[in-house]
Amino acid sequence: MVKAVGYIDGAISGLADTRIPVADRGFLYGDSVYEVFRTYSGIPFLFDEHYQRLLNSARLIEMNINQSKQEIIDAVKRTVRASLPAAGEDVYTRYQITRGEGPIDLNPELSLQTRLVIIVKAAPQWNREFYDNGVTLAVPKLRRNSVNSLDPNIKGGNYLNNIIALGEAKKRGADDCLMLDANGLVTECSNSNVWFVVDGKLVTPAGGNLDGLTRRSLISLFADANIEVVQRPIHSKELADATECFVTSATREVMPVRALYSVGGSKIEFPSGGGQQTRQAMTIYKRMLEDFVKENKEHAWFDFFH
Ligand code: PDD
Repeated sequence: MVKAVGYIDGAISGLADTRIPVADRGFLYGDSVYEVFRTYSGIPFLFDEHYQRLLNSARLIEMNINQSKQEIIDAVKRTVRASLPAAGEDVYTRYQITRGEGPIDLNPELSLQTRLVIIVKAAPQWNREFYDNGVTLAVPKLRRNSVNSLDPNIKGGNYLNNIIALGEAKKRGADDCLMLDANGLVTECSNSNVWFVVDGKLVTPAGGNLDGLTRRSLISLFADANIEVVQRPIHSKELADATECFVTSATREVMPVRALYSVGGSKIEFPSGGGQQTRQAMTIYKRMLEDFVKENKEHAWFDFFH
């Protein structure tokens, strides 16, 4: 069994015993950036891409990260190994950089030392139902932060917008929320990107959401198969015409959506287990991961445990 562990200031401990000082800005203000990736057969998937996105999040909030890339890699690797995955097990890794610990003062220019915090636990095992049938989404009243106020491309430590939206969707009995922006355009779910089939074409929202790495991978896999994916603004009014829907993220991979509830409560149903294009997305993504494992065996981080 993978042990849930945490890393802070160079020390690794069981996750329940990993503590952050209360004067850390990550705790006080959500003033931090983070990434989540997982391993497949012990091999970190898209590590560099995640690191580049972390740098972009840091750039967007004007945070200068003190830790070097090598320091982050070494600490993440060490924490992953401390979770002691057994043969056949994989890990979820979340690493976060906070703007550091200091006076209780909003000023971001205090020149504090940024802090690296890492969480490693077993790769999530989602309810089988979510793949066999699909999840349900509800559109909450609450709107997604605008790109001009808190850019969704900042993968930051403050998820209140998503948390409140998710809570609203859960209260209505849905598994997740599908957030709209102030203009009624579809953005994303609480922690995944969303896709639809409209007029037989695969579409996914152009803006107002995080540029997901799973989505990026899938767009390039569809391109390899000569299937066009259109990234464009999608108005909520169009959703009544959608025939398929699915979500993507590093932890969910490709997950079908079986029903979508509008703000008013009307229900749009999609094929259980995904329609033809959703199932194709699930298949090509799975196949790509199998190839990735075959081709990258020498890059495994904890192969020696097997
Ligand atoms: N979430 N949108 C949001 C708001 C997200 O938090 C995520 C990822 C995504 C999908 O991005 P990717 O395909 O790169 O995982 C979209 C991660 C999994 C998390 O916070 O747990």
